[in-house]
Formats: sequence, C-alpha cells, structure tokens
Amino acid sequence: MLRPLIAGNWKMHTDINHGAKLVEKLRELVGASEDVEVLIAPPTTSIHHLHFLVAGSPIKLAAQNIHWETEGAYTGEITAEMAHAAGCEYVIIGHSERRAYFGETDEWVHKKLIAAVRGGLKPIVCLGESLEEREAGKALEVIATQLKGALKTLAMGVLKDLVIAYEPVWAIGTGKTASPDEAEEVHAAIREQLYDMLGTEAKVVRIIYGGSVKAANIDELMGKPNIDGALVGGASLKPEDFARIVNFEKS
Ligand code: 13P
Repeated sequence: MLRPLIAGNWKMHTDINHGAKLVEKLRELVGASEDVEVLIAPPTTSIHHLHFLVAGSPIKLAAQNIHWETEGAYTGEITAEMAHAAGCEYVIIGHSERRAYFGETDEWVHKKLIAAVRGGLKPIVCLGESLEEREAGKALEVIATQLKGALKTLAMGVLKDLVIAYEPVWAIGTGKTASPDEAEEVHAAIREQLYDMLGTEAKVVRIIYGGSVKAANIDELMGKPNIDGALVGGASLKPEDFARIVNFEKS
C-alpha cells in the first residue's frame, strides 16, 4: 500500500492574502495527518510566503509549472531550482490546461521532467484524454503515448519520486467525474506500462486521479486498488471540502 497523496491545484486562483487564509484554515482542519501526504499548488506569487505559513504542518507545496532550462531569457518563466528555493517539494508537469492553452507538448513534458529531477523537485506528470478521444475508444492509446513521450528512456533511478496524475480532460471542472471503474481501468493500464518501461521497482510510483474530485466521490475512488490519491482543483479552494477529501474513508 503506497502512502496516498492528496494534492490541491489552486490554478490561477487566490492572491497572497486569500492563500494565507486558506492555509490557516487547512492547518486547523487537516491536523497532523501522517497517513496521507497533503500538498497544495498555489500560484507562483504566493509560494514563498505560504512556505513560512505551512512550516510545522504536514502541508507541502508544489509549483504548477516550470521551464526546463537552468536560466535565460525566457520572460515569464521560472526554473525548477527557483521553485525549489521558494519552498516547493513537488511540481505539476503537463497539466491538460497547459497542453491546451500554452502549447505544451510531450517533448516539453519530458524536458520539464528532467529539469524537475535536476532541481530537486518531485514531478507529478499529468496525462489525460479529451472527450473526442474517449468517445473514439482511444483513451488508453492516448494515455500510453503521453506516458511514453514523458518518460522516454529515463530509468527508475532518476524517477524514484515520480507521481503520475490521470486527469481526463472531459472531467476537469465539469462536475463530471470518471466513474471509479473508468478511472481504475486507466490507472491499471498506466501501472502495467510503468512496469514495462521501468521494471518492478515502478511499484512505488503513485498514480493519482484528477477531474471533479469532491467530498462526495473521494471515498469510492480511493477504494480502487490502483488509485493512490487525488489531484483536486475546484474543491481544493474550499478548506472544509479539501479536508474531507484528505480524510477520505475507502469504500
Ligand atoms: P477540478 O477538480 O476542478 O475538476 O480540476 C481538476 C484539475 O485539473 C486538477 O489539476
């Protein structure tokens, strides 16, 4: 049994003051949760401030994105090392919103994955098919291509802290969740491909689910053998809801 990871992706919501209030509330509500790893990914402008506010609590921080270079003329970007120095332990890579709105490709995801490891960040690589792809029966094929493109020939030694997030695009922010069985089918396929690509040591890679996760569906999702946690968008901005998700009870 892997230690579950419950991560909140705040996306482009919350300024520093709002973020500080959310963290204050979360600290009260999630308590000293040892069994579950709790993570939030605030906007870049809040990371360093929140780093001080989560100190002494089990809440960890993730960046929502990084660039792959170590420095340079890349206006608007940050390096893995900068995110790490600001207080991040993790980074989200290849979120479907970045793929859709900012032209992120599998090749970029691969470069960012290497950069994350270089910069001391644990990577959360996001995969997900669109509605058209699912309806065409291509979900597993699309996921397999994205996973292969992200990892290429990297070995388990480099990827020891890897997390994979399966986020079907049609389930993000839509209120439509993949059913626990639909999610489990994809998670099991990802697990198998990880074994093929990385060997049996890949058993430590957590595969988390994202897409309209809420208090009402977390228990059933976490009851599935290959679902090792959740990447939560909207509900992570509501401390009571997020705390309930962290304190899931498998069903
Ligand atoms: P929602 O939980 O709002 O559907 O967002 C999911 C997501 O994209 C998390 O990264």
